[in-house]
Amino acid sequence: MTTVTDAVLSRMSARAFTDQPVDSALVRRILTTARQSPSGGNVQPWHVIVLGGEELARLKAIMRDKLADPRAKGDGPEYPIYPRELGEPYRSRRFKCGEDMHGTMNISREDKASRYAFIAGNFQFWNAPVGMFMLIDRQMGPAQWVDLGMFMQTVMLLAREAGLHTCAQEAWTNWHKTVGEFLGLPPERMLFAGLALGYRDESHPVNRLRTDRAALEEFATFRGL
Ligand SMILES: Cc1cc2nc3c(=O)[nH]c(=O)nc-3n(C[C@H](O)[C@H](O)[C@H](O)COP(=O)(O)O)c2cc1C
Repeated sequence: MTTVTDAVLSRMSARAFTDQPVDSALVRRILTTARQSPSGGNVQPWHVIVLGGEELARLKAIMRDKLADPRAKGDGPEYPIYPRELGEPYRSRRFKCGEDMHGTMNISREDKASRYAFIAGNFQFWNAPVGMFMLIDRQMGPAQWVDLGMFMQTVMLLAREAGLHTCAQEAWTNWHKTVGEFLGLPPERMLFAGLALGYRDESHPVNRLRTDRAALEEFATFRGL
């Protein structure tokens, strides 16, 4: 049996998936269970659009065309993914994560073309057979964004229980207009992130990346316990 600890410790962001399809009933079951995620006032601010099969193929084709031009800048992010001046220690952590990821594939900092080509895989959902978009209404503030984040983590842990892997993808905000048009989003609904779902490609070097974490003492303070 998968324990919660197993799911938490085995979850990682997979950036290469096999073609093995994911059963539609399984995706429905994961989302049905994930709706038990908590949210302030039980407002349940999450909205999800799941793409598979022909629909996913259609979006992937659009994105492939757009990204064929290495000068393609995207639509610009709809929200700032990071603060403008990301201070320490966050800045170094972010840098290390990127370097370690490219390092798994021996892609150097100077090799911009290979970096671009790899990062473009975000917009193919890293070849996953299921791509989800996590959406939230524009009226919602930071507290509801937290709720959406918890919902996403619940989906990611349930995916592990089912033998699946995931990758959360805020990179999609850079193409929010393209995605919004494709999905026919109403103006009040905003794209937060994508979520790739599928079976991890065990042979791809990028999936060997294991990110580190700061020690307990660095982020937690105990008083009276
Ligand atoms: C909300 C959110 C958005 C993310 N967006 C992306 C993304 O666009 N592309 C990507 O490759 N990874 C993305 N990630 C994955 C993070 O880089 C990853 O979670 C982090 O480096 C820790 O590694 P791990 O997930 O393998 O433990 C995202 C993660 C979260 C939680």
